[in-house]
Amino acid sequence: MGASSGIGLRVAEEFASRGVKVGLAARHTTNMRKLKEKYPEFVEYSSIDITHANAPALMGELIHKLGGMDIYFHVAGIGYENLTLDPQREENIIATNAGGFARMISTAYRFFRDNNRRGRIAAVTSVAGTKGIGRLSAYSASKKCAQTYLTALEQLAHSENADIKFTDIRPGWIRTPLLLDGDKYPMEMTLDYAVPQIIKAIVRHPRVATIDWRWNLLAKAWNRLPDSLWVRMNIQISKPDSPLPKPGDNPIPTPASEEKETRAI
Ligand SMILES: NC(=O)c1ccc[n+]([C@@H]2O[C@H](COP(=O)([O-])OP(=O)(O)OC[C@H]3O[C@@H](n4cnc5c(N)ncnc54)[C@H](OP(=O)(O)O)[C@@H]3O)[C@@H](O)[C@H]2O)c1
Repeated sequence: MGASSGIGLRVAEEFASRGVKVGLAARHTTNMRKLKEKYPEFVEYSSIDITHANAPALMGELIHKLGGMDIYFHVAGIGYENLTLDPQREENIIATNAGGFARMISTAYRFFRDNNRRGRIAAVTSVAGTKGIGRLSAYSASKKCAQTYLTALEQLAHSENADIKFTDIRPGWIRTPLLLDGDKYPMEMTLDYAVPQIIKAIVRHPRVATIDWRWNLLAKAWNRLPDSLWVRMNIQISKPDSPLPKPGDNPIPTPASEEKETRAI
């Protein structure tokens, strides 16, 4: 889920090119159709918006087309700084990364449990979910929510004796359309570098995989900091840095940021 771009598209292509059957889903279909044309035997796709109530039914149809599902991989998400704290933009992130996440992960869980199948659920959250990041307020909160949701369903699976394994994949910055063109992000990774590590995590299914080792060290250090210190840190996201708004700045997205939001979603 989230296979029309960036990490999801690359992971889907890697599996399809090795002869693994993959079902791709996202809202935009162009790239998914192209992959279907390249690997017609191994690819099915469907246009699904995870913020809509019809998404579980559409995913059921896609699973039916594939003839079943062994691994559910969730990568769909949006993210951007929202320094004016425009309420609609905050809510959009939560609706996709937390609401849509719960909608689809629960659908995958029910599929495995109700069909008495051994299943794996792997999801891309983020190192941003380690602690609340001021300049990524809704984004970091949504990723923490996703991480907690996976833990909750893992506990439920134990109580229900459901044979479902969970993998929480937490990358640092990876150059994809999610990032702003032209900006530099700290310890930025390429898809060529990060995707093999993500695939390893999907296949070997550790409970948590932080991508890469440098981000793993950083996340561990963040976790050790007391909140009283953490809230005094000024964590910048990219260079050039976006200026913090002044009191009274209008919380209305600029055409450029709106365009970015549309691109990222
Ligand atoms: N790139 C990074 O630095 C980074 C770091 C840590 C975590 N992540 C996470 O990795 C995931 C993928 O990001 P990416 O970097 O590959 O960005 P991306 O290229 O923008 O891909 C995002 C994917 O999510 C899909 N998506 C977004 N909203 C959706 C919706 N409502 N319904 C269905 N699909 C939706 C998009 O498809 P459509 O627009 O076609 O629907 C697209 O396929 C996100 O969850 C992101 O938070 C990224």
